Amino acid sequence: MRRSNRANRPRRLALSALLAAAALASAGCGATTVDRSDADPVAGQELFVQRCGGCHTLAAAGTQGQTGPNLDDGFGFPREQGFPESTFFEVTLEKMEKPGYGSVMPDFDNPDDPDNFLEEHELVSIADFVASNAGTGAEPPEASADDPESLFATSCGSCHVFTPAGTSGTTGPSLDDTTLGVEEVARQIAEGGGGMPPFEGQLTDEQIEALAEYVTSARRR
Ligand code: HEC
Ligand code: HEC
Repeated sequence: MRRSNRANRPRRLALSALLAAAALASAGCGATTVDRSDADPVAGQELFVQRCGGCHTLAAAGTQGQTGPNLDDGFGFPREQGFPESTFFEVTLEKMEKPGYGSVMPDFDNPDDPDNFLEEHELVSIADFVASNAGTGAEPPEASADDPESLFATSCGSCHVFTPAGTSGTTGPSLDDTTLGVEEVARQIAEGGGGMPPFEGQLTDEQIEALAEYVTSARRR
């Protein structure tokens, strides 16, 4: 498979080409303008976690995907160099709409692909969230054990369908119908296995217990 090559080798180069193109486009008059003021930052973060976080690391969203480039690394350097945030907005929007031939990244603007398709205002909200946060050093709000639903959404939702948390990841099994007990779920979270990363060390024991309680009590019976 050439996936790992594509994901790892040319990333910095690819991003600088995208940035240069976007800078040119916005310098020229008559560049297509999308109204960024329609963006909803909260929805943008949630959608990023659900649709992008499984493949992309972005600290402000609390995601750790490895398939695609780390967006904090990707945007951090150009941000330091003084590229305007509007450029990051345009690049991100463009990438979601036209990932490019052969890219593993889905086309989020193709109505014939309902699993990936996003409405314009959703695309704008995601691009706004990425542009405002990638490479800024911003961390996600501390996910507390008191709020297992948002903890689940940021740590687990990119891989698991779980209807009570509104997540739709498909890398792991749907947890709507899991028959495991609290102890077993807690062990699975701490130790991972079978393609799931271990969360021991990343989440506190308290958070792991709260998640195990949440998954076993909120699921469908
Ligand atoms: C299935 C994995 C996958 C998903 C899901 C995904 N991407 Fe990507 N993305 C990639 C890969 C791989 C690349 C690098 C290769 C390429 O450019 O196609 C990439 C490249 C990018 C880039 C260019 C970054 C750079 O350094 O070149 C941006 C921006 C981006 N993705 C944003 C997003 C956003 C926003 C979403 C969610 C709407 C998303 N991606 C969803 C895999 C994914
Ligand atoms: C990178 C993807 C990924 C992430 C993130 C992830 N999981 Fe998993 N999870 C998996 C995979 C893949 C399996 C299947 C493991 C197997 O078959 O042995 C799994 C299995 C499970 C199971 C067992 C389900 C069953 O019925 O057998 C539970 C429970 C679970 N995960 C909960 C969680 C929770 C809670 C989180 C967040 C702390 C989480 N997972 C994060 C990929 C992931």
